[in-house]
Amino acid sequence: MAQEAGRLHYNGAVVEQARQWVRSAPAVVALTGAGISAESGIPTFRGSDGLWNQYRPEELATPEAFARDPRLVWEWYQWRRELIAKAEPNAGHRALVELQDRKKDFTLITQNVDGLHDRAGSRRILKLHGDIWRLRCTVCRADWPDRRVPLPKLPPHCRCGGLARPDVVWFGEPLPDGMFLEAEHAVRAAQVLLVIGTSALVYPAASLVPLARASGAKVIEINPEETPVSSAADCSLRGRSGDLLPRLVAPD
Ligand code: APR
Repeated sequence: MAQEAGRLHYNGAVVEQARQWVRSAPAVVALTGAGISAESGIPTFRGSDGLWNQYRPEELATPEAFARDPRLVWEWYQWRRELIAKAEPNAGHRALVELQDRKKDFTLITQNVDGLHDRAGSRRILKLHGDIWRLRCTVCRADWPDRRVPLPKLPPHCRCGGLARPDVVWFGEPLPDGMFLEAEHAVRAAQVLLVIGTSALVYPAASLVPLARASGAKVIEINPEETPVSSAADCSLRGRSGDLLPRLVAPD
C-alpha cells in the first residue's frame, strides 16, 4: 500500500488480494460498527458529526441516566428510531447478505442496534449491543418487539405495569448471555475476519480482532479512517463500506 500524506491508500491489487482471501476462505466472520450504516444516513457515534459530539453518552446510554430520567432517554431513542425508520440498507449491508448466501460458514457480528442488517436480509446476526426495535421490562424482564414510530407514550410500560426500556446494551452493562462466547467461537473457526465501520474502541467487541489474529485468520479492515486495529490488520482498506464490500465479495 502506498503511504501518502499520512493516510494509507490502497490500489486495485490490494483489494484483489483481499477479495481472494475472502473468496478462498471456507469460514468468514464480519464484525460491523456504526460506519456500515453511515451511507444509509444514520450518524455514527465518534465521527466528525458523531452522536457523541452532540450528546454526552453518560446522559443517555447508561443505566444511571435511565434511572435518573427515563423520559429524556426515551426521547433520544424515539428520535433515533424515527431517523432509522427512514433509512434503507445500503450496498455494504447487501454485500454481506451475498457473502452469507455464498459461504458455507458465515457469521455476522454487529455492534449496531439499527436493524439494517436484518432488513437487508442477513440471518443469524449476533447483536452484541441489542436491538433498538425491541423493548424490555425493567420489572418482569419480559422483552418484545415494538416497531411503532413514534411510540404512542413515553416512557412505554410493560403489560405488567413495569417501566419498559430499550432492549440495548448501555455502557457498563453486560452483553446478552452467551452471545460473546458464540462470537469468539465463530472468530476462532474463521479464516477471514472482516472489520467494517468500527472505531474499535469499545470492548469486548474490539477484542475479536486480536483473537482472529491469534487464531491465524486474515484480518481485513474497511474504514475511511485509521483505527487502533489498523496496524494489526493484514489489509486495512481506506474507504467506505458501500464501495468496498461489493468489490470484496464480487465473484470471479
Ligand atoms: N464505511 C466504513 N466505515 C465508516 C464509514 C463508511 N462509509 N463512515 C464512517 N466510518 C467509520 C468511522 O471512521 C469510524 O471508525 O465507522 C466508525 C464508526 O465508529 P463509532 O462511531 O465509534 O461506532 P462504533 O465503532 O460502532 O461504536 C461502538 O460504541 O457508542 C457505543 O454502543 C455504541 O455500538 C457502539 C459502540
